[in-house]
Amino acid sequence: MTPHAILTIARRTLVAGAALVLAVPLTASAAAATLGAAAAQTNRYFGAAIAAGRMNDSTYMTILNREFNQVTAENEMKWDATEPSRGSFNYNNANRIVNHAISRGMIIRGHALLWHQQMPGWAQGLSGSTLRSAMINHVTQVATYFRGKIHSWDVVNEAFADGNGGGRRQSSLQATGNDWIEAAFRAARAADPGAKLCYNDYNTDGINAKSTGIYNMVRDFKQRGVPIDCVGFQSHLTNSAPSDYQANLQRFADLGVDVQITELDISGSNQANAYATVTRACLAVARCNGITVWGIRDSDSWRTGANPLLFDSSGNKKAAYTSVLNALNAATPSPTPTPTPTPTPTPTPTPTPTPTPTPTPNPGGPCRVAYSVNPWNTGYTAAIIVTNTGSSALNGWALAFTLPSGQTITGGWNAAYTGSSGQITARNLSYNNAIPAGGSVEFGFQATHTGNTAAPTSFTLNGSTCTTA
Ligand code: G3I
Repeated sequence: MTPHAILTIARRTLVAGAALVLAVPLTASAAAATLGAAAAQTNRYFGAAIAAGRMNDSTYMTILNREFNQVTAENEMKWDATEPSRGSFNYNNANRIVNHAISRGMIIRGHALLWHQQMPGWAQGLSGSTLRSAMINHVTQVATYFRGKIHSWDVVNEAFADGNGGGRRQSSLQATGNDWIEAAFRAARAADPGAKLCYNDYNTDGINAKSTGIYNMVRDFKQRGVPIDCVGFQSHLTNSAPSDYQANLQRFADLGVDVQITELDISGSNQANAYATVTRACLAVARCNGITVWGIRDSDSWRTGANPLLFDSSGNKKAAYTSVLNALNAATPSPTPTPTPTPTPTPTPTPTPTPTPTPTPNPGGPCRVAYSVNPWNTGYTAAIIVTNTGSSALNGWALAFTLPSGQTITGGWNAAYTGSSGQITARNLSYNNAIPAGGSVEFGFQATHTGNTAAPTSFTLNGSTCTTA
């Protein structure tokens, strides 16, 4: 394996907006031999959408494992797949993809939490506040389930209309209120603070009314602090990319978000050139994280008969493959970080023993609660961090508080809730029962409200009153 082929994933715990990051050892060397390794030379990924149903096809898996360092589930993380009946979640097929990716060191794009297509039948029958609650609960549950495993989530997919001057698409989701997109992003951030949160769409590959509508939304979100980290450009293309493809990526990047090519496939006789153009555009935009092709072989493509992918139906590399690989290898590798010189150790003087301090009772009580709310017009998500400020570990905990009137919990994560309005108790689950002295647990819930989103006035942990931060 060449140094370029070494791709490691470093998980960093960062402030909101951060994500899993690629850490790539870089040295100047010969051209990389695979798409993933070539992309890694500039700290980018090269991925493919895959289908759980094809994972027993050895040709398919050989190409996947050899060429790609990122995967997207083509259908297995969509709403109809993950929540086939209300409140009942099924991650079997998604997990086949996730587990394989993790075992091979591939990063994962989550696709897609909310989309007007492929909604389960039960959700298609809902509207208004009932649908709003169901969709926010869906975002929360799925993003929480995969927390820590997803590099980037398509939180909302294809919410803008074609030919409507940059306006929103009509859908039952849109009919719950124009703020449905930001509510979804807030819920996703609360559920998985380490994932990048993306808006993803098609026919947005050049500067046009639709991409400008999305651009304006992203600018507004950034100004108002709505958590958005990236924009996905699907790039289902025919023969060429728009001439302003790179300029379009760059204008979004200039808003302070990452950009990603999320579903690339290109049909037509100019395919190889067009693939190179798209690849070079991503390489030329510093905030372009990577490229995902929407399938592996032509026979795997949703565009039946269009042969828009990089491998033919027998799994052979096409001219388009070589064109992408060459473009990736022509890019200037990202510089190797200069090692910081190790300081010469100086002898440490023998310390004078200091008397052991007498423990003083904890001045703030045995616990501290940080409680934050992300509201929208009829609901909110609440994130709670409980810190054990006592001097001994807790094994098993229960946090009691009273919700102000009009607030009703509709779902929660990382805790089991008793009560939905008024007096609430949140209890540990099996995996977070212990809070060491000085340690914390994080959990939360989503709720509806009737105008008052105030926090509870006091919190009691295992019977003792906590301070609030
Ligand atoms: O799995 C069932 C199978 O059991 C059944 O016999 C068969 C009968 O039609 O359907 C199969 O499900 C199909 C599924 O793909 C898996 O093959 C669905 O009908 C079909 O609608 C679904 O199509 C997917 C499409 O999204 C849904 O709109 C495509 O695979 C998928 O490539 C495509 O991906 C979308 C992105 O998510 C968003 N951007 C556009 C892109 C292309 O449409």
